Amino acid sequence: MSGIDYSQKIPNNVDLGGDKRLQRALEAWQPNYLEWWAQMGPTDFNTKDVYLRTAINVGAEGWAHFGYVKMPEYRWGIFLAPQEAGRTIGFGDHFGQPAWQQVPGEYRNWLRRLIVTQADTEPASVEQQRLLGHTAPSLYDLRNLFQVNVEEGRHLWAMVYLLHTYFGKDGREEAEELLHRRSGNADHPRILGTFNEPCEDWLSFLCFTMFTDRDGKFQLLALAESGFDPLARTCRFMLTEEAHHMFVGQTGVGRVIEKTLTVMRDHPDRDVRDFGAIPVEIIQKYINFWSSSSTDLYGAEISSNSANFFRSGLKGRAYEEKQKDHLALEQSYLFENFVDGRISKEEVPLRNAMNEVLRDEYVKDNMRGIDYWNRICERLDSPVRFTLPHRRFHRKIGCYAGAHFHPVTGELLDESTWLANVDTWLPTAKDKAYVKSLMKPVYEKGKYASWIAAPAKGIDEKGVDYEYVKLA
Ligand SMILES: [Fe+2]
Ligand SMILES: [Fe+2]
Repeated sequence: MSGIDYSQKIPNNVDLGGDKRLQRALEAWQPNYLEWWAQMGPTDFNTKDVYLRTAINVGAEGWAHFGYVKMPEYRWGIFLAPQEAGRTIGFGDHFGQPAWQQVPGEYRNWLRRLIVTQADTEPASVEQQRLLGHTAPSLYDLRNLFQVNVEEGRHLWAMVYLLHTYFGKDGREEAEELLHRRSGNADHPRILGTFNEPCEDWLSFLCFTMFTDRDGKFQLLALAESGFDPLARTCRFMLTEEAHHMFVGQTGVGRVIEKTLTVMRDHPDRDVRDFGAIPVEIIQKYINFWSSSSTDLYGAEISSNSANFFRSGLKGRAYEEKQKDHLALEQSYLFENFVDGRISKEEVPLRNAMNEVLRDEYVKDNMRGIDYWNRICERLDSPVRFTLPHRRFHRKIGCYAGAHFHPVTGELLDESTWLANVDTWLPTAKDKAYVKSLMKPVYEKGKYASWIAAPAKGIDEKGVDYEYVKLA
């Protein structure tokens, strides 16, 4: 049952053909989606053959097929992880009850909101990245960009399937709206802040896939626990795809670091800019910006919404099965609150701190990425080390918003100290202009731009000099 039916207009493993009304509704949405892709997807590459993977099976092994595809012909479809017989709800007030196969009426609005919020990030990131193909540092990277783009498009399909199938007329209206909001548009923006930030250069793209797609991973992990079974199954399969996006970010920034440190080693008395590499300080500033912005995506530290989502069994914790107390009723969470200019330890009921619980896991995972980058530094015998900014740094949501904190120590800073140092912590206009000046396409097979090292290996056992995109 896990195989995917490709004979249909919309590939799927949910027996879409068995529900004609639903099939018609989704087939009516499909041209609108394609029109959005043509308008807001990657510009000017829609006629090119790209070496892409396509899902052919949702099993743990051998789920993807690789081959040349023109992006508009990518088989966007609906793939759910297999249903687990007898699955029960794993947390919250309904713990132990059978998982829901239909939307529980009393939670309908909350559930729709969770799905729409997740869905909105998917087309948003495609919009943010739409111009990057023009400045790709290699065919390998160009292909990775497009792979991420088509899969974010598929994630939109995954969520729209749920809206169409389970939410009737308002679900269909939400699905239309998802094609109408626009990243960064002042009048009709995407829902979440980071997804309206411009992502105009490749260092931003690599940081985005490292930190923002990793937020996606943890949101999906929490939703994969949902008592609403179709959502859980959808998210479990999305996680399989998401892993590649974070790989692109983590190894991508790693390759930028490798290139910079290699230039530093070979030319210790020179500025790396002379060789078209990106200075260590600028890389760190980009890390600071994108990680702090993405840390905001978990919302406020204390949140009655997150308590409600947990209590009702809609959104759990990442790796819920590792928890001992699935009700989370007895425990409390000690968190650092910042009120009236003072940081104080405060204990709150655990359920109210679910955003913070998920953020904790995210920060830990980010640290593993930083460690990976620092191992590259060690390997190249460089004393340079990268840091993850303190979670209080540069926050716009939650108790730390509105005040300034040191990126390393997390100490509270007054306005003048902040202003005197902010240019050493966050990318300046000059930094961005320099990074942008490097953004020139390198489309020759096996060639890589001056600011990024070649990857250790290619995609799907192909070499690093494979023709991943046929531009001719
Ligand atoms: Fe996604
Ligand atoms: Fe992603």
